[in-house]
Amino acid sequence: MRTHVITHGCQMNEYDTLTIQSELVAGGHDLVDHPSDAELILLNTCAVRGKPVEKVVSILGDLRKERRAGRDVVIGLMGCLAQLDEGRDLADKFGVDLLVGPGAITDIVPAIEALEQARGSRGREPRVRVDRLAFRGDLVDHLTPPPPPGTLTGYLTIMRGCDHHCTYCIVPQTRGPEVSRPLAAIVHEAEAMRAQGVDEVVLLGQNVNSYGRDDPGLPSFAELLRAVAAVGFPRVKFTTSHPMNFTSDVIDAIAETANVCDYVHLPVQSGSDRVLRRMAREYRRERYLDIVRELRERVPDVVLTTDIIVGFPGETEEDFEQTLSLYDEARFDAAYMFAYSARPGTPAHARFEDLPREIKSERLGRLVERQKHWSLEGNRRFEGREVRVLVKELGRDGAHAVGHSDQHHTVLVPAVQVKRMGLHAVRVEHATPHALYGGVVGAASDGVALPLAS
Ligand code: SAH
Ligand code: SF4
Ligand code: F3S
Repeated sequence: MRTHVITHGCQMNEYDTLTIQSELVAGGHDLVDHPSDAELILLNTCAVRGKPVEKVVSILGDLRKERRAGRDVVIGLMGCLAQLDEGRDLADKFGVDLLVGPGAITDIVPAIEALEQARGSRGREPRVRVDRLAFRGDLVDHLTPPPPPGTLTGYLTIMRGCDHHCTYCIVPQTRGPEVSRPLAAIVHEAEAMRAQGVDEVVLLGQNVNSYGRDDPGLPSFAELLRAVAAVGFPRVKFTTSHPMNFTSDVIDAIAETANVCDYVHLPVQSGSDRVLRRMAREYRRERYLDIVRELRERVPDVVLTTDIIVGFPGETEEDFEQTLSLYDEARFDAAYMFAYSARPGTPAHARFEDLPREIKSERLGRLVERQKHWSLEGNRRFEGREVRVLVKELGRDGAHAVGHSDQHHTVLVPAVQVKRMGLHAVRVEHATPHALYGGVVGAASDGVALPLAS
């Protein structure tokens, strides 16, 4: 079948989409770039907040209209939403044909075959459903092919699932318990990516610091980091770190390994111990700030980013002020800031009453302002300095080319200075809260050629 895959959600879904696509091609299906050309549309979905679910509802609504107007198209719901009752209900409502959970993506081809057979025998709207959260032995060993040639940043999942039970979060239910992938599979994928010209590899997991804890035969995360760094990428990044397992040996690996980037994404979620307890985050404010101090001491250039939820049920003005004051101590370079979104099926949804929307958005607004201040301060540290930038695309204005620094800043340079995408050495001239602006000054330090526009 001519198939189009739509991907929402985190980088893990993007990585899973590569597996889905390779399974489809191996199973004799064709990939098409436009949904309008497809006989089968697969939605790889996210369920972490209300908004990504609304997006899926809107796409399913459009497809239902097209079908009613006579289009014959098969619709598949994959990813995190497909694992939940919420997804099942949507499948019923919108006539979805295939439901395949995130632990069953390698079953996509047999699921399509089963659907075709069922359609042939019964004729009307059969549905095929595959959900499986027991990953070990198949998906965990499965080798994902490298991304398409020309890809500069490659994502590599090192573990699946999550053993934490943060009360607001649906992920443990959609992705199951933590399972680390074998070291050999990870290194094999990393080598294949590097051979294909990928300059930056991003190691992925809901909680990468737990890598190896489920299997005594595996190395620790810090050891894995060093093993992947040895593959020879100019850059190695990783996400997401959990403060509970963020150990000093990881800080050592960042400090001592040149190509492991000075960039850490360490979600704190709240600055109030009372709220952290109600969220069931297993650390407290002081422990978090200790990690930040150790990081800044050992890795002085480190760029630190975080995730924050504002307006968690029961959050008082005083709790929120604790988050603001944590900001002033931690001085995050950037943050993903979310208003709490009650997710059916989570403990917080069952136990606590949601705060009024106005309170959540008013606090979010104040936090965004505070973050702007610290982002600008953080970015100004780099004014006048040279940074190495992986330039990936032309900016929307057409006048700039856009990329990311080793420390993960968004960096813009004049497009005329860039002849091809890739690593460039850039002198930073000007910082805003959201980006660094500069000019290309020469060859990047690892010797990648830098042809300047004449
Ligand atoms: N495993 C990662 C995060 C995964 S989800 C970690 O523990 O850090 C990404 C982010 O979405 C979370 O860090 C959190 O800030 C946010 N998030 C998760 N559930 C949410 C909810 N119900 N409402 C608002 N934000 C949420
Ligand atoms: Fe969700 Fe918490 Fe697990 Fe992160 S650590 S995925 S926030 S349950
Ligand atoms: Fe969303 Fe699932 Fe990722 S819920 S954030 S796609 S793990």
